[in-house]
Amino acid sequence: MLTFVWAEDENGVIGKEGELPWSLPNDMKFFKEVTLTGNVLMGRKTLESIPNPPLKNRINVVLTRNTEFEKKDIIILNTKDEVLELAKTMDKPLHIIGGADIFNMFVNDVDRLYRTLIHETFEGDVYMPSIDYSLFDLVETVEGHVDEKNIHAHTFQIFERKHA
Ligand SMILES: NC(=O)c1ccc[n+]([C@@H]2O[C@H](COP(=O)([O-])OP(=O)(O)OC[C@H]3O[C@@H](n4cnc5c(N)ncnc54)[C@H](OP(=O)(O)O)[C@@H]3O)[C@@H](O)[C@H]2O)c1
Repeated sequence: MLTFVWAEDENGVIGKEGELPWSLPNDMKFFKEVTLTGNVLMGRKTLESIPNPPLKNRINVVLTRNTEFEKKDIIILNTKDEVLELAKTMDKPLHIIGGADIFNMFVNDVDRLYRTLIHETFEGDVYMPSIDYSLFDLVETVEGHVDEKNIHAHTFQIFERKHA
């Protein structure tokens, strides 16, 4: 099973200068809980944004066009087909964690969406690709808790792809 796990602002912004545009520890906690249920796939730039990769206790898979690229304890792949083949061999979900190029590549394949909506606008240079939400059912909505460490109002949503 393939999922997307991401956070976006009201305009669909997801990144700024190689990092997240906001600090929201509650969302980092949610991200960790979700992704620990499976393995993770990310683009090479998102890998660069992670302080001490790999993400622990998950198989980390990275997509790059660079066939020479290597990183300790990380599976490096160069094509979408290689990812789909690998995902078939996994007995757990493969959580796709960005960024924009990688979400775009799998938008017709993804089964479940974990979206954190941040109810503000931020400056940014990377946007979530458009998703046809009419193809999905919203199955869970939870309001995030705002406090002194989590100052941005936010909502956690889970969508499942509709089956014909
Ligand atoms: N808010 C969120 O939930 C969230 C989630 C993830 C990331 N982000 C943010 O988004 C930004 C990074 O995302 P991004 O969209 O710029 O980059 P990205 O998708 O993480 O990585 C892009 C790279 O993926 C590789 N790639 C792309 N298409 C490919 C293909 N068809 N085949 C093989 N490899 C391919 C290329 O690597 P090479 O250049 O090595 O060939 C490309 O440069 C950062 O600011 C990060 O903090 C936010």
